[in-house]
Amino acid sequence: MESVRAQSPGRVNLIGEHTDYNGGMVLPAALSVHLEAELVPRADEALRISAEAFGPLHERRLGDEAQQHWSDPAVGALREARSLGLIEHGADIAIASTIPAGAGLSSSAALIVTLLKAARKLAGADISDTDIAVAARRVETDYIGVPVGIMDQMAVAIAQPGEAIALDTATLDYRLVSLPEGHSIEVIHSGVTRQLTDGRYRERKEECDAARLAFGREDICLLDPDEIEAKDDVDDRIRRRARHCASEHRRVLAAVEALAANDVKVFGALMIASHASMRDDFEMSVPPIDALVDNAIELGASGARLTGGGFGGCIVACVPETARDKWLEGLLARHPEARFIDRTSA
Ligand code: GLA
Repeated sequence: MESVRAQSPGRVNLIGEHTDYNGGMVLPAALSVHLEAELVPRADEALRISAEAFGPLHERRLGDEAQQHWSDPAVGALREARSLGLIEHGADIAIASTIPAGAGLSSSAALIVTLLKAARKLAGADISDTDIAVAARRVETDYIGVPVGIMDQMAVAIAQPGEAIALDTATLDYRLVSLPEGHSIEVIHSGVTRQLTDGRYRERKEECDAARLAFGREDICLLDPDEIEAKDDVDDRIRRRARHCASEHRRVLAAVEALAANDVKVFGALMIASHASMRDDFEMSVPPIDALVDNAIELGASGARLTGGGFGGCIVACVPETARDKWLEGLLARHPEARFIDRTSA
């Protein structure tokens, strides 16, 4: 049978965390680490999935429910492809990936989007990348059961390495933005692993739901900062979650402007303020990440912050090209548990 291939990059979020399910803006960039897949349709309902990076050849059925296995995103993607009319039966799927799993760099979104793009190619269907991203999110929320936003799927479906995408998650309008000139966007793993399925992501989502109820509006990112402080019958924790969402949304808007003006000083300051907000108001950081971010700045980064869902994973830093090698050497010397993952630049 005919075989098709597709590929997607990993992504790093430059700024705009936990705003993507609260009606706010995000600014992720595509990385050079990426995932490729080859899909060969089968005449039966079997899914034979091989992925060196994840585990040995694994056989599933199209009718399978999710079972907390690395192959769930692939099974979910093929089920979604079938309900979109892109594929009739099962498939042999070969996956090759350089995106580290569990690092907050969207390995799961990249897998789902890649398989949906491969199925689109197979069917010769006219489905936009935005619709692919929306379908990929459905796989995560409805099939796998993690209440994620739309940032990762849009970033990996649309952005190319070296590009950032300024995305309004309320409308899915986006524009591509250039990375700062003369600077490198560095992605460093903290050594603390996390998984979106471990419950803390969901807990934050539920606190945002509580903020929605308390303030009486869906898109809490668009709340007026004064209104957040003025309302007196709100639990302090819920107020802080809302404060993070609203202030983070504004920081993304300012960051997009700063990048358009190539103003790295302002862009870096916004990254630093974003980290403080994630640490203090959204409480999604952990001490080893705070230390890594502080040292990244001390050693000369223009800005640095935790990136992704939180509670571990990677930091992202914006570092002058000329200082990059020394910066990295100094940072890894102070943090032997950390490791360099990838970098991207304009
Ligand atoms: C994860 C989710 C995204 C987003 C980020 C936090 O990456 O998949 O939808 O919510 O966390 O910004």
